[in-house]
Amino acid sequence: MNVLVVGSGGREHALCWSLGASPLVDQLFCAPGNGGIAEHARCIDIDVMDFDGLIGFCRSESVELVVVGPEAPLVAGIVDRMAEAGIKAFGPNAAAAAIEGSKGFSKDLCHKYDIPTADYGRFTDADAAKDYIRARGAPIVVKADGLAAGKGVTVAASVEEAESAVDAAFAGQFGEAGQELVIEEFLTGEEASFHVLVDGENVVPLASAQDHKAAYDGDIGPNTGGMGAYSPAPVVSDALAAEIMDKVVRPTVAAMKAEGRPYKGVLYCGLMICADGPKVIEYNCRFGDPECQVILARLMSDLLPALLAATDGVLDNFDLRWYPDPALTVVMAAQGYPGAYEKGTEIRNLGPASDLPGITIFHAGTRSDGNRITANGGRVLGVTARGATVTEAQARAYDAVDVVDWPDGFCRRDIGWRAVAREADGQSAETV
Ligand code: AMP
Ligand code: GLY
Repeated sequence: MNVLVVGSGGREHALCWSLGASPLVDQLFCAPGNGGIAEHARCIDIDVMDFDGLIGFCRSESVELVVVGPEAPLVAGIVDRMAEAGIKAFGPNAAAAAIEGSKGFSKDLCHKYDIPTADYGRFTDADAAKDYIRARGAPIVVKADGLAAGKGVTVAASVEEAESAVDAAFAGQFGEAGQELVIEEFLTGEEASFHVLVDGENVVPLASAQDHKAAYDGDIGPNTGGMGAYSPAPVVSDALAAEIMDKVVRPTVAAMKAEGRPYKGVLYCGLMICADGPKVIEYNCRFGDPECQVILARLMSDLLPALLAATDGVLDNFDLRWYPDPALTVVMAAQGYPGAYEKGTEIRNLGPASDLPGITIFHAGTRSDGNRITANGGRVLGVTARGATVTEAQARAYDAVDVVDWPDGFCRRDIGWRAVAREADGQSAETV
């Protein structure tokens, strides 16, 4: 079968790496891809939002399955357009992708169907938003309703900070996406990313994961798309995974069906594990990045039949097998990220770094020009290691990071610290 992956990040490299290993895949294409993806797939220069261009390509190359990586084309209806053109695409249609595309929609869904989440209000007016903030007090969280590339959330420590976030959003900081706000209760606990495959009705959980969103060591500094991740997340014990399935995942999938928006694809539940149980912080309508890298690094089964079963509505009784070894990804980003950064700087020694035991390097934003690999984005590489423990995976990943010769990049040095601390305490890894 010919398969087209849509996207150009580390997530899409992991998808291509995984699909490229499937004996069921004849030709693998990626639009637009990147310097690392080019090793597994033929990269074609079509933008992820150019649906006509993508459909034309699928027709000319007899593509039978399109796997969509990022949220923007999903929310804009790429799966609907592909369906109209008679092309099978993995991912939710636009009506279902609203679960990520509108935070107001997802909060109302939780409220209506009794799915645990933070208390909230929805606002299109600054005065009403500020009244709510003053009545609730700080800390409090201000979120743009629409897609804002992971930058639309302000966790405000003071009422003044929250009010400034309201003013900035209504002044156009996030464009249209910030013209409606969700303001919600600040939750405390440990975060976990819980991904499941969904076929409209049936659900197959994927391995648990945790990412590090803050830019700097100690989980401080500005929020990013994710500076690293690991799987499994020790906080997600088997008992907690069962509770997440019962209280969050199954009710969400049933709610989407009841709303006439049956959900197909991968559903990523961003959770806060609070003292009184798991609560939804956000839903994403796609794989997390870099969570996808660590999840797929642990997947023993062939990914393609799983994606097809979700798309075809036949996930009941579908089973996936996982390597028990943990996986950990350290993101190497361009100096300055998530602020301004340079493109075009050269990265050397990727070969020797990849040859180290247990290492796979996923490219997130690179270009290949001849024999040179250059940086072409903010998050540039995802150095991924498997190991017998998270501690070993972490040590292997940083050994490889130290071999990569890229003076213009930086990374956090503490990815996985919670899990490593748990392992040092001798806590067993009874996790999924
Ligand atoms: P989101 O894009 O909604 O996942 O939010 C980005 C980050 O902001 C999350 O990963 C959390 O670290 C933080 N956050 C979001 N909502 C809340 C909340 N209600 N309470 C505490 N932290 C939050
Ligand atoms: N790593 C967080 C995300 O993909 O949204």
